[in-house]
Amino acid sequence: MLQAVEECMLKWVTDLGSDEINKLFIKLPKGKRLRAKLVLKIAGETKEAVTLAAIIELIHAASLLHDDVIDEASTRRGVESVNASDGSKVAVMMGDILYSKAYTELVCFDERIARAVAQAVTVLSIGEYDDVKMGESFNEDENAYLEMIYKKTASLIEATAYCAAVLVNKDEEDYKLYGKNLGLSFQIIDDILDIVSDEKTLGKPALNDFKEGKTTLPYMYLYKALNDEDKKRLKAAHLQTLDADESAWIKLKMKELKSVERSYVLAQKLSDDAIKIMHKHDEKELMSILEEMMKREF
Ligand code: FPP
Ligand code: MG
Repeated sequence: MLQAVEECMLKWVTDLGSDEINKLFIKLPKGKRLRAKLVLKIAGETKEAVTLAAIIELIHAASLLHDDVIDEASTRRGVESVNASDGSKVAVMMGDILYSKAYTELVCFDERIARAVAQAVTVLSIGEYDDVKMGESFNEDENAYLEMIYKKTASLIEATAYCAAVLVNKDEEDYKLYGKNLGLSFQIIDDILDIVSDEKTLGKPALNDFKEGKTTLPYMYLYKALNDEDKKRLKAAHLQTLDADESAWIKLKMKELKSVERSYVLAQKLSDDAIKIMHKHDEKELMSILEEMMKREF
């Protein structure tokens, strides 16, 4: 049924009537389609669920096109990003087209659904803003980080689960909380993978977050556990292109001081809380989405 979501998105884009936009869209790497899977698993494989899934995946794709411009990323999911291959102007415009087309389709839905998605996109955009602004200096505030990843990543996943539940009259508050926890743990795992994975597996440069200024959870835990001299050394590496020695030092210290492990514990706790909620509703597939997400390597 994920295939039906792909076909739906492609049809909408084709209907726009531009060969160039069509070609650019086809070239976009598809990714995990986590949000689409979530809709289909919660709301079942109906026409309405496929449409909602396609809307949310188009919005997500648009946000990544813009994010790569903002982050000046040259790769996305192992291939050249659109801003790298066709320039930032094309990437921004392409994002605008996908995003507004998704909104055009969204107006056909019940107001509760349309409002929840629209609100989540506002929150997501503020989250992106906060992420960029927080990256201008070395952030030590764990709560600020958690709030930012809630906005940047979890808000849309939360809205996805909520809307899918509304479609089929399931307990929307429980599904919303499940989505929120899934989104938070997903982003923490993403931030861990940036440190522990290699470029080939990730499809983007490894240890890139810190260079972009993002002091993610493992860096915050590391900083707090370091002695004063090493604290200075870590701060000096912030926003820099790390050489092999500095990268190795960060990884070694993270291992010694268990900062990755501690971050993983928080992701696991959030995931366990979400599993408990789904256990109540006997949603085995939604529980396995979490288990797989926690084990993922990219
Ligand atoms: C990836 O974060 C970015 C996001 C999850 C959200 C980006 C949101 C916007 C640009 C605003 C919304 C815009 C539209 C058009 C809907 P990341 O940089 O941490 O992850 P990455 O390593 O995958 O790039
Ligand atoms: Mg990015």
